[in-house]
Amino acid sequence: MGVATAAYQIEGAVDEGGRGPSIWDTFAHTPGRVHRGDTGDIACDHYHRWQHDLDLLVELGVDSYRLSVSWARLQPGGTGELNPDGVAFYREVLAGLRSRGIRPFVTLYHWDLPQPLEDAGGWPVRDTAVRFADYARRTVAALGDLADDWITLNEPWCSAFLGYGYGPHAPGRTDIRAAVAASHHLNLAHGLAVGAIREVAPTARVGITNIVTEVVAATDSPADHDAADRLDAVSNRAFLDPVYLGAYGDGVHARLDPHGLADVIRGGDLETISQPVDFAGVNHYQRVIVSAVPTDAAHPFGFSETPAEPAATSFGWSVIPDSLHAVLLRVARDYTSLPLYITESGASFDDYVDPEGGIDDVERISYLAGYFEAAGRAISDGVDLRGYFVWSLLDNFEWGEGYSKRFGLVYIDYRTQERLPKASAHWYRELLARFRTTS
Ligand code: NOJ
Repeated sequence: MGVATAAYQIEGAVDEGGRGPSIWDTFAHTPGRVHRGDTGDIACDHYHRWQHDLDLLVELGVDSYRLSVSWARLQPGGTGELNPDGVAFYREVLAGLRSRGIRPFVTLYHWDLPQPLEDAGGWPVRDTAVRFADYARRTVAALGDLADDWITLNEPWCSAFLGYGYGPHAPGRTDIRAAVAASHHLNLAHGLAVGAIREVAPTARVGITNIVTEVVAATDSPADHDAADRLDAVSNRAFLDPVYLGAYGDGVHARLDPHGLADVIRGGDLETISQPVDFAGVNHYQRVIVSAVPTDAAHPFGFSETPAEPAATSFGWSVIPDSLHAVLLRVARDYTSLPLYITESGASFDDYVDPEGGIDDVERISYLAGYFEAAGRAISDGVDLRGYFVWSLLDNFEWGEGYSKRFGLVYIDYRTQERLPKASAHWYRELLARFRTTS
Protein backbone atom coordinates (compact mmCIF):
# COMPACT_ATOMS: atom_id res chain seq x y z
CA MET A 1 0.00 0.00 0.00
CA GLY A 2 1.41 3.34 -0.98
CA VAL A 3 0.85 6.83 -2.29
CA ALA A 4 1.67 8.43 -5.63
CA THR A 5 2.95 11.74 -6.98
CA ALA A 6 4.32 13.09 -10.28
CA ALA A 7 7.34 15.28 -10.99
CA TYR A 8 5.79 18.40 -12.53
CA GLN A 9 2.99 18.41 -9.99
CA ILE A 10 5.28 18.60 -6.95
CA GLU A 11 8.91 19.40 -7.75
CA GLY A 12 9.04 23.08 -8.75
CA ALA A 13 12.65 24.23 -9.38
CA VAL A 14 11.86 24.33 -13.07
CA ASP A 15 15.06 26.06 -14.04
CA GLU A 16 17.41 24.59 -11.49
CA GLY A 17 19.84 21.71 -11.80
CA GLY A 18 20.06 21.93 -15.57
CA ARG A 19 16.38 21.17 -16.16
CA GLY A 20 15.01 22.25 -19.52
CA PRO A 21 11.50 23.43 -20.35
CA SER A 22 8.74 20.91 -20.87
CA ILE A 23 5.42 21.31 -22.63
CA TRP A 24 3.80 21.95 -19.25
CA ASP A 25 6.08 24.90 -18.53
CA THR A 26 5.16 26.42 -21.86
CA PHE A 27 1.46 25.66 -21.47
CA ALA A 28 1.16 26.90 -17.90
CA HIS A 29 2.91 30.13 -18.84
CA THR A 30 0.51 30.74 -21.70
CA PRO A 31 -2.22 33.10 -20.46
CA GLY A 32 -5.64 31.52 -20.23
CA ARG A 33 -4.51 27.92 -20.22
CA VAL A 34 -4.40 27.03 -16.51
CA HIS A 35 -6.88 28.08 -13.85
CA ARG A 36 -5.87 31.49 -12.42
CA GLY A 37 -2.59 31.34 -14.31
CA ASP A 38 -1.07 28.85 -11.87
CA THR A 39 2.19 27.18 -12.92
CA GLY A 40 4.41 24.38 -11.61
CA ASP A 41 7.34 26.80 -11.15
CA ILE A 42 7.33 26.23 -7.38
CA ALA A 43 4.57 23.65 -6.86
CA CYS A 44 5.28 21.87 -3.54
CA ASP A 45 8.97 22.81 -3.73
CA HIS A 46 9.65 19.10 -3.41
CA TYR A 47 12.98 19.55 -5.22
CA HIS A 48 14.27 21.25 -2.08
CA ARG A 49 12.06 19.53 0.50
CA TRP A 50 12.20 15.94 -0.70
CA GLN A 51 13.88 14.63 2.46
CA HIS A 52 11.04 15.96 4.56
CA ASP A 53 8.49 14.53 2.11
CA LEU A 54 10.15 11.13 2.29
CA ASP A 55 9.90 11.37 6.06
CA LEU A 56 6.17 11.95 5.62
CA LEU A 57 6.02 8.60 3.82
CA VAL A 58 7.65 6.97 6.84
CA GLU A 59 5.15 8.67 9.16
CA LEU A 60 2.32 7.31 7.03
CA GLY A 61 3.83 3.85 7.20
CA VAL A 62 3.51 3.09 3.47
CA ASP A 63 5.72 0.34 2.09
CA SER A 64 5.83 1.72 -1.47
CA TYR A 65 5.80 5.04 -3.27
CA ARG A 66 5.02 5.82 -6.90
CA LEU A 67 6.91 8.83 -8.20
CA SER A 68 7.79 10.06 -11.65
CA VAL A 69 11.10 11.27 -13.00
CA SER A 70 11.07 14.33 -15.23
CA TRP A 71 12.27 13.76 -18.78
CA ALA A 72 13.00 17.51 -19.02
CA ARG A 73 15.22 17.28 -15.93
CA LEU A 74 17.01 14.11 -17.00
CA GLN A 75 17.42 14.81 -20.71
CA PRO A 76 16.60 18.49 -21.17
CA GLY A 77 16.91 18.56 -24.95
CA GLY A 78 15.10 15.25 -25.40
CA THR A 79 18.19 13.63 -26.93
CA GLY A 80 21.72 12.63 -25.98
CA GLU A 81 23.53 12.27 -22.69
CA LEU A 82 21.58 12.59 -19.45
CA ASN A 83 21.96 15.71 -17.34
CA PRO A 84 24.28 14.70 -14.45
CA ASP A 85 22.50 17.00 -11.97
CA GLY A 86 19.18 15.43 -12.84
CA VAL A 87 20.59 11.94 -12.39
CA ALA A 88 22.15 12.98 -9.07
CA PHE A 89 18.83 14.36 -7.81
CA TYR A 90 16.88 11.20 -8.54
CA ARG A 91 19.67 8.98 -7.24
CA GLU A 92 19.45 10.83 -3.93
CA VAL A 93 15.68 10.49 -3.81
CA LEU A 94 15.75 6.78 -4.67
CA ALA A 95 18.56 6.13 -2.20
CA GLY A 96 16.53 8.07 0.37
CA LEU A 97 13.59 5.76 -0.24
CA ARG A 98 15.79 2.71 0.06
CA SER A 99 17.27 3.87 3.35
CA ARG A 100 13.72 4.36 4.64
CA GLY A 101 12.70 0.87 3.51
CA ILE A 102 10.19 2.13 0.91
CA ARG A 103 9.88 0.44 -2.48
CA PRO A 104 9.82 2.90 -5.39
CA PHE A 105 7.65 2.48 -8.49
CA VAL A 106 9.12 4.92 -11.00
CA THR A 107 7.10 6.36 -13.86
CA LEU A 108 9.25 7.50 -16.77
CA TYR A 109 6.68 9.74 -18.40
CA HIS A 110 4.04 11.64 -16.49
CA TRP A 111 3.26 14.21 -19.20
CA ASP A 112 6.34 16.47 -19.13
CA LEU A 113 7.62 16.16 -22.70
CA PRO A 114 10.79 18.22 -23.27
CA GLN A 115 9.73 21.29 -25.24
CA PRO A 116 12.33 20.72 -28.01
CA LEU A 117 10.59 17.42 -28.83
CA GLU A 118 7.24 19.18 -29.06
CA ASP A 119 8.86 21.75 -31.33
CA ALA A 120 9.88 18.84 -33.54
CA GLY A 121 6.24 17.66 -33.73
CA GLY A 122 5.59 16.01 -30.34
CA TRP A 123 3.74 12.73 -29.92
CA PRO A 124 1.95 12.86 -33.27
CA VAL A 125 5.43 12.32 -34.77
CA ARG A 126 6.78 8.77 -34.74
CA ASP A 127 10.32 9.79 -33.85
CA THR A 128 9.14 10.91 -30.39
CA ALA A 129 8.55 7.23 -29.57
CA VAL A 130 12.12 6.44 -30.55
CA ARG A 131 13.37 9.36 -28.44
CA PHE A 132 11.39 8.06 -25.48
CA ALA A 133 12.93 4.59 -25.72
CA ASP A 134 16.39 6.17 -25.76
CA TYR A 135 15.55 8.25 -22.69
CA ALA A 136 14.13 5.18 -20.95
CA ARG A 137 17.24 3.13 -21.69
CA ARG A 138 19.59 5.81 -20.40
CA THR A 139 17.47 6.52 -17.34
CA VAL A 140 17.13 2.92 -16.26
CA ALA A 141 20.85 2.40 -16.89
CA ALA A 142 21.55 5.36 -14.59
CA LEU A 143 18.99 4.63 -11.86
CA GLY A 144 18.12 0.95 -12.25
CA ASP A 145 20.31 -0.19 -9.35
CA LEU A 146 18.03 1.81 -7.04
CA ALA A 147 14.59 0.79 -8.33
CA ASP A 148 13.18 -2.50 -9.59
CA ASP A 149 9.72 -1.40 -10.69
CA TRP A 150 9.32 0.83 -13.75
CA ILE A 151 6.23 2.27 -15.37
CA THR A 152 6.76 3.49 -18.91
CA LEU A 153 3.84 5.89 -19.38
CA ASN A 154 1.14 7.40 -17.23
CA GLU A 155 -2.32 7.50 -18.82
CA PRO A 156 -1.37 7.83 -22.49
CA TRP A 157 -5.04 8.57 -23.28
CA CYS A 158 -4.66 11.89 -21.45
CA SER A 159 -1.43 12.76 -23.21
CA ALA A 160 -2.97 12.01 -26.60
CA PHE A 161 -6.55 13.22 -26.34
CA LEU A 162 -6.37 15.97 -23.70
CA GLY A 163 -3.04 17.17 -25.07
CA TYR A 164 -3.63 17.01 -28.84
CA GLY A 165 -7.32 16.35 -29.40
CA TYR A 166 -9.43 18.40 -27.00
CA GLY A 167 -6.76 20.78 -25.73
CA PRO A 168 -7.18 21.28 -21.95
CA HIS A 169 -3.72 19.79 -21.34
CA ALA A 170 -0.33 20.64 -22.79
CA PRO A 171 0.50 21.24 -25.55
CA GLY A 172 -3.11 22.32 -25.97
CA ARG A 173 -3.71 21.33 -29.57
CA THR A 174 -7.20 20.56 -30.91
CA ASP A 175 -6.71 18.17 -33.78
CA ILE A 176 -8.24 14.69 -33.54
CA ARG A 177 -5.99 13.24 -36.23
CA ALA A 178 -2.98 14.42 -34.23
CA ALA A 179 -4.47 12.84 -31.08
CA VAL A 180 -4.95 9.50 -32.84
CA ALA A 181 -1.41 9.53 -34.23
CA ALA A 182 -0.17 10.47 -30.74
CA SER A 183 -2.10 7.53 -29.26
CA HIS A 184 -0.38 5.03 -31.50
CA HIS A 185 3.02 6.60 -31.00
CA LEU A 186 2.57 6.59 -27.22
CA ASN A 187 1.64 2.90 -27.37
CA LEU A 188 4.68 2.33 -29.56
CA ALA A 189 6.86 4.35 -27.17
CA HIS A 190 5.80 2.03 -24.39
CA GLY A 191 6.73 -1.07 -26.38
CA LEU A 192 10.06 0.30 -27.55
CA ALA A 193 10.87 1.34 -23.99
CA VAL A 194 10.08 -2.10 -22.58
CA GLY A 195 12.64 -3.57 -24.99
CA ALA A 196 15.19 -0.87 -24.18
CA ILE A 197 14.77 -1.32 -20.42
CA ARG A 198 15.15 -5.10 -20.67
CA GLU A 199 18.49 -4.60 -22.45
CA VAL A 200 20.00 -2.56 -19.63
CA ALA A 201 18.13 -4.08 -16.67
CA PRO A 202 17.07 -7.64 -17.42
CA THR A 203 15.62 -8.19 -13.95
CA ALA A 204 13.61 -4.96 -13.82
CA ARG A 205 9.83 -5.30 -13.58
CA VAL A 206 8.16 -3.15 -16.21
CA GLY A 207 4.58 -2.13 -16.85
CA ILE A 208 2.39 0.70 -18.08
CA THR A 209 -0.31 2.70 -16.30
CA ASN A 210 -3.56 3.20 -18.15
CA ILE A 211 -6.60 5.05 -16.96
CA VAL A 212 -9.61 2.75 -17.01
CA THR A 213 -12.94 4.50 -16.81
CA GLU A 214 -16.22 2.72 -16.36
CA VAL A 215 -18.54 3.63 -19.21
CA VAL A 216 -22.32 3.33 -19.01
CA ALA A 217 -24.90 4.25 -21.65
CA ALA A 218 -27.35 6.95 -20.52
CA THR A 219 -30.39 5.00 -21.74
CA ASP A 220 -31.19 1.66 -23.29
CA SER A 221 -31.41 3.21 -26.73
CA PRO A 222 -29.16 1.69 -29.40
CA ALA A 223 -27.82 5.19 -30.13
CA ASP A 224 -26.62 5.71 -26.54
CA HIS A 225 -25.18 2.20 -26.40
CA ASP A 226 -23.24 2.86 -29.54
CA ALA A 227 -22.04 6.20 -28.14
CA ALA A 228 -20.86 4.44 -24.97
CA ASP A 229 -19.03 1.90 -27.07
CA ARG A 230 -17.35 4.70 -29.02
CA LEU A 231 -16.11 6.36 -25.84
CA ASP A 232 -14.91 3.04 -24.47
CA ALA A 233 -13.08 2.27 -27.71
CA VAL A 234 -11.38 5.65 -27.83
CA SER A 235 -10.41 6.01 -24.18
CA ASN A 236 -10.03 2.48 -22.81
CA ARG A 237 -9.62 -0.08 -25.59
CA ALA A 238 -7.33 1.99 -27.86
CA PHE A 239 -4.70 1.70 -25.12
CA LEU A 240 -5.44 -1.64 -23.44
CA ASP A 241 -6.00 -3.71 -26.63
CA PRO A 242 -2.60 -3.21 -28.26
CA VAL A 243 -0.58 -3.68 -25.06
CA TYR A 244 -2.34 -6.77 -23.69
CA LEU A 245 -3.97 -8.33 -26.77
CA GLY A 246 -1.46 -7.38 -29.47
CA ALA A 247 -4.00 -5.77 -31.79
CA TYR A 248 -6.40 -2.86 -31.90
CA GLY A 249 -9.82 -4.53 -31.82
CA ASP A 250 -12.24 -4.11 -34.70
CA GLY A 251 -14.22 -1.57 -32.70
CA VAL A 252 -11.14 0.57 -32.17
CA HIS A 253 -10.28 0.44 -35.86
CA ALA A 254 -13.85 1.28 -36.79
CA ARG A 255 -13.81 4.38 -34.56
CA LEU A 256 -10.27 5.57 -35.16
CA ASP A 257 -9.36 4.61 -38.73
CA PRO A 258 -11.48 7.48 -40.09
CA HIS A 259 -9.15 9.71 -38.05
CA GLY A 260 -5.97 8.12 -39.37
CA LEU A 261 -5.14 5.22 -37.03
CA ALA A 262 -4.46 2.68 -39.80
CA ASP A 263 -2.30 5.24 -41.61
CA VAL A 264 0.25 5.51 -38.78
CA ILE A 265 0.61 1.79 -37.97
CA ARG A 266 3.68 0.16 -39.52
CA GLY A 267 4.55 -3.51 -39.83
CA GLY A 268 5.85 -4.93 -36.56
CA ASP A 269 4.42 -2.14 -34.39
CA LEU A 270 1.85 -4.34 -32.67
CA GLU A 271 4.47 -6.96 -31.83
CA THR A 272 6.62 -4.23 -30.31
CA ILE A 273 3.72 -2.75 -28.33
CA SER A 274 2.55 -6.10 -26.98
CA GLN A 275 5.82 -7.56 -25.84
CA PRO A 276 5.45 -9.08 -22.40
CA VAL A 277 5.27 -6.84 -19.37
CA ASP A 278 5.42 -7.81 -15.72
CA PHE A 279 2.38 -6.08 -14.28
CA ALA A 280 -0.56 -3.94 -15.30
CA GLY A 281 -1.06 -0.47 -13.82
CA VAL A 282 -4.62 0.82 -13.53
CA ASN A 283 -5.60 4.38 -12.65
CA HIS A 284 -9.27 4.74 -11.88
CA TYR A 285 -11.29 7.84 -11.10
CA GLN A 286 -14.82 7.64 -12.36
CA ARG A 287 -17.87 6.12 -13.93
CA VAL A 288 -19.26 8.20 -16.78
CA ILE A 289 -22.67 8.22 -18.37
CA VAL A 290 -22.62 8.54 -22.13
CA SER A 291 -25.22 9.84 -24.55
CA ALA A 292 -25.24 10.15 -28.31
CA VAL A 293 -24.97 13.69 -29.66
CA PRO A 294 -24.55 14.98 -33.19
CA THR A 295 -20.98 14.86 -34.40
CA ASP A 296 -19.35 18.29 -34.53
CA ALA A 297 -15.98 19.90 -33.82
CA ALA A 298 -16.46 19.57 -30.05
CA HIS A 299 -17.83 16.02 -30.34
CA PRO A 300 -15.78 14.35 -33.05
CA PHE A 301 -16.98 10.90 -31.99
CA GLY A 302 -20.61 11.87 -31.41
CA PHE A 303 -20.72 11.20 -27.68
CA SER A 304 -21.08 13.37 -24.65
CA GLU A 305 -20.18 12.21 -21.16
CA THR A 306 -21.31 13.31 -17.74
CA PRO A 307 -20.06 11.97 -14.43
CA ALA A 308 -22.44 9.51 -12.87
CA GLU A 309 -24.31 10.39 -9.67
CA PRO A 310 -23.53 10.64 -6.84
CA ALA A 311 -21.03 13.32 -7.81
CA ALA A 312 -19.26 14.19 -4.64
CA THR A 313 -15.71 15.28 -5.34
CA SER A 314 -14.76 18.91 -5.92
CA PHE A 315 -14.14 17.96 -9.56
CA GLY A 316 -17.74 16.74 -9.73
CA TRP A 317 -16.45 13.21 -10.29
CA SER A 318 -18.49 10.25 -9.17
CA VAL A 319 -17.86 8.40 -5.93
CA ILE A 320 -18.86 4.83 -6.75
CA PRO A 321 -16.58 2.18 -5.26
CA ASP A 322 -18.30 -0.53 -7.32
CA SER A 323 -16.89 1.18 -10.35
CA LEU A 324 -13.34 0.39 -9.20
CA HIS A 325 -14.40 -3.21 -8.60
CA ALA A 326 -15.88 -3.36 -12.11
CA VAL A 327 -12.80 -2.06 -13.90
CA LEU A 328 -10.46 -4.37 -11.98
CA LEU A 329 -12.59 -7.36 -12.92
CA ARG A 330 -12.74 -6.20 -16.50
CA VAL A 331 -8.97 -5.82 -16.85
CA ALA A 332 -8.39 -9.21 -15.24
CA ARG A 333 -11.11 -10.90 -17.34
CA ASP A 334 -10.59 -9.27 -20.74
CA TYR A 335 -6.95 -8.29 -20.76
CA THR A 336 -4.41 -9.95 -18.53
CA SER A 337 -3.75 -12.38 -15.72
CA LEU A 338 -0.65 -10.40 -14.73
CA PRO A 339 -0.40 -8.87 -11.26
CA LEU A 340 -2.42 -5.65 -11.17
CA TYR A 341 -1.60 -2.46 -9.32
CA ILE A 342 -3.98 0.40 -8.74
CA THR A 343 -1.38 3.00 -9.56
CA GLU A 344 -3.77 5.86 -8.72
CA SER A 345 -7.11 6.26 -7.03
CA GLY A 346 -8.15 9.26 -4.99
CA ALA A 347 -10.38 12.29 -4.77
CA SER A 348 -10.26 16.07 -4.55
CA PHE A 349 -12.25 17.93 -1.92
CA ASP A 350 -12.40 21.55 -0.77
CA ASP A 351 -10.17 20.94 2.23
CA TYR A 352 -9.45 23.81 4.59
CA VAL A 353 -7.59 24.38 7.83
CA ASP A 354 -10.10 24.74 10.63
CA PRO A 355 -9.68 27.16 13.56
CA GLU A 356 -7.95 24.45 15.61
CA GLY A 357 -5.40 23.93 12.83
CA GLY A 358 -6.73 20.56 11.66
CA ILE A 359 -7.99 19.45 8.25
CA ASP A 360 -10.96 17.22 8.86
CA ASP A 361 -11.40 15.66 5.42
CA VAL A 362 -14.08 13.17 6.39
CA GLU A 363 -15.21 12.90 2.74
CA ARG A 364 -11.78 11.57 1.72
CA ILE A 365 -11.76 9.05 4.56
CA SER A 366 -15.14 7.76 3.53
CA TYR A 367 -14.03 7.72 -0.13
CA LEU A 368 -10.92 5.70 0.64
CA ALA A 369 -12.73 3.30 2.96
CA GLY A 370 -15.23 2.54 0.20
CA TYR A 371 -12.63 2.13 -2.52
CA PHE A 372 -10.35 -0.04 -0.36
CA GLU A 373 -13.30 -2.28 0.41
CA ALA A 374 -14.08 -2.53 -3.31
CA ALA A 375 -10.45 -3.45 -4.05
CA GLY A 376 -10.62 -6.12 -1.36
CA ARG A 377 -13.78 -7.49 -2.97
CA ALA A 378 -11.98 -7.68 -6.30
CA ILE A 379 -9.26 -9.77 -4.64
CA SER A 380 -11.91 -12.07 -3.17
CA ASP A 381 -13.35 -12.37 -6.67
CA GLY A 382 -10.01 -13.63 -7.96
CA VAL A 383 -8.21 -10.50 -9.19
CA ASP A 384 -4.46 -10.70 -8.58
CA LEU A 385 -4.27 -7.20 -7.11
CA ARG A 386 -0.86 -6.54 -5.58
CA GLY A 387 -0.88 -2.89 -4.62
CA TYR A 388 -2.83 0.33 -4.20
CA PHE A 389 -1.33 3.80 -4.54
CA VAL A 390 -3.50 6.61 -3.20
CA TRP A 391 -3.42 9.77 -5.27
CA SER A 392 -1.81 11.72 -3.74
CA LEU A 393 0.73 12.13 -0.95
CA LEU A 394 0.51 15.93 -1.16
CA ASP A 395 -1.88 18.51 -2.53
CA ASN A 396 -0.23 19.54 -5.76
CA PHE A 397 -0.46 21.21 -9.17
CA GLU A 398 -3.57 19.66 -10.68
CA TRP A 399 -2.77 20.39 -14.34
CA GLY A 400 -5.37 22.67 -15.98
CA GLU A 401 -7.01 23.22 -12.59
CA GLY A 402 -3.83 24.59 -11.03
CA TYR A 403 -3.83 24.53 -7.23
CA SER A 404 -7.60 24.71 -6.96
CA LYS A 405 -8.08 20.95 -6.59
CA ARG A 406 -6.65 19.25 -3.52
CA PHE A 407 -6.05 15.49 -3.72
CA GLY A 408 -3.45 15.13 -0.95
CA LEU A 409 -3.45 13.15 2.25
CA VAL A 410 -1.17 15.98 3.34
CA TYR A 411 -2.34 19.58 2.98
CA ILE A 412 0.04 22.14 1.51
CA ASP A 413 -0.11 25.76 2.60
CA TYR A 414 1.27 27.17 -0.66
CA ARG A 415 2.26 30.48 0.96
CA THR A 416 4.58 28.86 3.48
CA GLN A 417 5.04 25.36 2.00
CA GLU A 418 4.02 23.98 5.36
CA ARG A 419 2.91 20.34 5.20
CA LEU A 420 -0.12 19.51 7.37
CA PRO A 421 -1.28 15.89 7.45
CA LYS A 422 -5.06 15.79 7.03
CA ALA A 423 -7.35 13.55 9.06
CA SER A 424 -7.18 11.10 6.12
CA ALA A 425 -3.41 10.79 6.58
CA HIS A 426 -3.89 9.82 10.24
CA TRP A 427 -6.66 7.42 9.24
CA TYR A 428 -4.50 5.82 6.52
CA ARG A 429 -1.58 5.50 8.95
CA GLU A 430 -3.74 3.68 11.49
CA LEU A 431 -5.18 1.42 8.81
CA LEU A 432 -1.71 0.50 7.57
CA ALA A 433 -0.52 -0.16 11.11
CA ARG A 434 -3.47 -2.51 11.71
CA PHE A 435 -2.83 -4.15 8.35
CA ARG A 436 0.82 -4.80 9.31
CA THR A 437 -0.04 -6.39 12.63
CA THR A 438 -2.73 -8.64 11.17
CA SER A 439 -0.94 -9.78 8.01
C1 NOJ B 1 -4.44 11.18 -13.08
C2 NOJ B 1 -3.10 11.79 -13.30
O1 NOJ B 1 -2.15 10.78 -13.53
C3 NOJ B 1 -2.65 12.68 -12.16
O2 NOJ B 1 -1.52 13.37 -12.58
C4 NOJ B 1 -3.79 13.61 -11.76
O3 NOJ B 1 -3.39 14.52 -10.79
C5 NOJ B 1 -4.94 12.76 -11.27
N1 NOJ B 1 -5.39 11.95 -12.38
C6 NOJ B 1 -6.13 13.56 -10.78
O4 NOJ B 1 -6.69 14.23 -11.84
